[in-house]
Amino acid sequence: MSDKKNTVIFISGRGSNMQKLIEAASDANYPAKIIGVISNKRDAQGLEFAKKADIKTAVISPKDYKNKADTDAAISSLLESWDVDLICLAGYMRLLGAEFCQKWQGKIINIHPSLLPQFKGLNTHQRAIDSQASDHGCTVHFVTVDMDSGPIIGQIIVPLQNDDTKEKLEKRVLIAEHNLYPWALAQVASGEVNFSD
Ligand code: GRF
Repeated sequence: MSDKKNTVIFISGRGSNMQKLIEAASDANYPAKIIGVISNKRDAQGLEFAKKADIKTAVISPKDYKNKADTDAAISSLLESWDVDLICLAGYMRLLGAEFCQKWQGKIINIHPSLLPQFKGLNTHQRAIDSQASDHGCTVHFVTVDMDSGPIIGQIIVPLQNDDTKEKLEKRVLIAEHNLYPWALAQVASGEVNFSD
């Protein structure tokens, strides 16, 4: 019997981080198995890649539910029916409610394009340039009720350059994200890193 952790990835769009996780998990020795991809957007590009990789996909759109609580409950039911151990948020541009975050605490991780706790929220690359900091980067962390605030699993530093634009910086940070996320998921799935407050 495999002791790989059943992992589901949540996306909203392009899904390049999702792709890197799927590729990493195709290695026989990787401690997580990607068993599904869930999107809140029907037209998320990443869904096509997941389908081609023979991974089951589902769209759970808030538009189909009365409120956030009902949407989150539908996601939880699906995860339970899939026997999910871990959840990776990878460009999932929808805030999950407090009840959902508490229910899955310790099992849900997120990638964020900044060196948290700096620049929580959106538009991180422009904010990093405007701050004139010397370093920017990315973080994988456990998800808690407060957005972009849970315990940090790992970070990669991306130094800022004098001629940086938002676009140039975003490209370099994305390469770092693609290295960081497969490593961070492996840490959690293998039990090397556990949730702690
Ligand atoms: C990434 O920069 C991620 O950190 C942020 O949204 C972007 C998603 O990109 N939360 P992709 O969908 O993984 O290509």
